[in-house]
Amino acid sequence: HSAESRSRGAFILLEGCDRTGKSTQAAKLVERLQTLGHSTKLWKFPDRTTRIGQMIDGYLAKGEDLNDHAVHLLFSANRWEAVEAMEKHLSAGTTLVVDRYAYSGVAFSAAKGLDLEWCKHPDRGLLRPDLTLFLDMPIEESMKRGGFGEERYEKLTIQTKVRELFLQLREPTWVMVDATQSIESIHKELVHQSEKAITRVRDQPLQHDLWL
Ligand code: TMP
Ligand code: MG
Repeated sequence: HSAESRSRGAFILLEGCDRTGKSTQAAKLVERLQTLGHSTKLWKFPDRTTRIGQMIDGYLAKGEDLNDHAVHLLFSANRWEAVEAMEKHLSAGTTLVVDRYAYSGVAFSAAKGLDLEWCKHPDRGLLRPDLTLFLDMPIEESMKRGGFGEERYEKLTIQTKVRELFLQLREPTWVMVDATQSIESIHKELVHQSEKAITRVRDQPLQHDLWL
């Protein structure tokens, strides 16, 4: 085998509070990385298209009530059900740009008062992102953005707690991005960081040790 055939894609994660521009940036990043010649795919959690994802969507968007612990486990299950497909893409050399992951899972549930360590447990042993880009901005700013308040959790008090929890979960390798910048400057920074990560991990094994 040549080094070329062994090279894998990078797991690039975008995290942050609601309305910080993650989805906009994720889509632009995928497009740009593809243009630069990297096989790249957009991924999104929660994935509302699966059966578990439909239950999550009912809870978030349709006012259906679920026990806080139960919905936490559904979000986690929604990641576990994607693991084989994600691994397949990464191993085949495709970079995944992932919009939210287990950090959102823990931050939002713990913001509702669930125990932080309990919240981390179901996601232990999941694939670990190679690069986490945290889009950060004051909640007062994101609240002014279109659509804020449409879904459960899009409230000032919850978002403020979520941001604090994200900062508690922050790891030394995270890249903090000022999300109040223009779409183009944020985009440039994300492209730069992503290309470095793609180069850095291409000969490294996948990491299955989130929170282990
Ligand atoms: P979205 O707006 O990115 O689709 O996410 C929907 C909401 O779900 C958002 O407020 C964050 C929240 N969330 C959780 O509570 N737990 C999770 O595990 C994930 C991925 C998202
Ligand atoms: Mg949302």
